[in-house]
Amino acid sequence: MDKFIIQGGISLEGEVVISGSKNAALPVLCSSILADGPCIYTNIPRLRDITTITDVLSTLGMGIERPERNTITIDPTNLVSYEAPYELVKSMRASILVLGPLLAKYKRAKVSLPGGCAIGVRPIDMHLKALTKMGADITLSHGYVMASTEGIKGATIVFDTPTVGGTENIMMAATLAQGTTVIQGAAKEPEVVDLANALITMGARIEGAGESTITIEGMSSLSGLEYEVIPDRIEVGTFLVAGAITRGDLLIKGARAEHVVAVAEKLSEMGVVITEEDGGAIRVNGKTDLRPVQVETVPYPGFPTDMQAQIMALACISQGVSTITENIFENRYMHVPELMRMGGRLEEKGPTVIVHGVDQFQGASVMATDLRASASLVLAALNARGVTEIRRIYHLDRGYEELDRKLNLLGAKVMRERGGL
Ligand code: EPZ
Repeated sequence: MDKFIIQGGISLEGEVVISGSKNAALPVLCSSILADGPCIYTNIPRLRDITTITDVLSTLGMGIERPERNTITIDPTNLVSYEAPYELVKSMRASILVLGPLLAKYKRAKVSLPGGCAIGVRPIDMHLKALTKMGADITLSHGYVMASTEGIKGATIVFDTPTVGGTENIMMAATLAQGTTVIQGAAKEPEVVDLANALITMGARIEGAGESTITIEGMSSLSGLEYEVIPDRIEVGTFLVAGAITRGDLLIKGARAEHVVAVAEKLSEMGVVITEEDGGAIRVNGKTDLRPVQVETVPYPGFPTDMQAQIMALACISQGVSTITENIFENRYMHVPELMRMGGRLEEKGPTVIVHGVDQFQGASVMATDLRASASLVLAALNARGVTEIRRIYHLDRGYEELDRKLNLLGAKVMRERGGL
């Protein structure tokens, strides 16, 4: 398994271009199942998770081509299977997003239960309850979701708490339902809006995406499309922290500033200077002393759980006492003991971590445990005095396109050592 060797203590300077959003691309690629013609997707990041979802789609019989580095074309017209197998789903929970489209288009699906992952149990009960209300017969058997329907029907779906994947699955199923579906308590993430925009480009009738109530009028068919996904707001947030934690000066290009308002506000509270430049670029200047911060992760548009580990690394080298509370997932603190190995002073108290600021991290040998935890360890290593070795960096490759190359172009010293334990 690959590892990173990082020489810390270097201020990052220069420009970085943001890749397409992993969490927009995954549902958008699954929505191709609904199409009657070829689908062309651009600005798709080259990531392990994208490879996994295209493997799932090709297992269903769909024709997948990658004519250019960040373009994927899908021919959905030759579906031969309705099964998303365990071997693929176990490595990525988002594979469950084929369930809604398969039911709506082909009236049947067999999808492996995702199983837990490092950050929590992450059930799909809300997905299944909503699809059942839309006319699906669903049973769980031998680790698989077995689903069939006479035809998906419109319904009013109420989510007690927002679920991004649940909103996306139901929205996709509803596009080909008989009648109208209303989703109340919908997730408002930009990735949900991007999926809605892709579906509308295919001929779907959707109103209210990005709000808490989404209305979808079922159509008889959807066409193919050409679509460019939005930039990755979590990558933007990660580079904002990279500029702050190394006391650097970065210009982040290809970002959508309106997608990172909550993150930018929290960093500004800490004393980081963030300014919007022409053409949507965002400049971050970290050449200031950092104040402590109080953060609670909440659904969009609040502070995102996917930035919790990254801002925790920054809080570790800020003055004073910070508190970070994770409200979305029950086990998203796997990075805490690793940050402590690097000299961070943290204590977990239930859903909250209390951080006592230190001057600088110390290089150490640490292990990545999940995608965003890996990012926080890279950020800590960039700040650290000395050299840090981060093992199991495959977690990072799931969600960041060429992060080592991008960081080295900014003056960092990140070496990827291939193989080994
Ligand atoms: C999406 O996951 C993202 N993944 C996650 O990003 C992100 O952290 C999460 O939304 C929250 O913003 C993708 O978009 C591919 P949820 P998702 O359904 O859809 C519980 C990353 O790092 N829940 O909004 O799986 C669930 O356990 C990843 O890029 C149920 O209880 O998240 C969690 O506690 C990590 N029952 C909470 O709701 C359900 O049926 C939010 O989950 C569904 C969810």
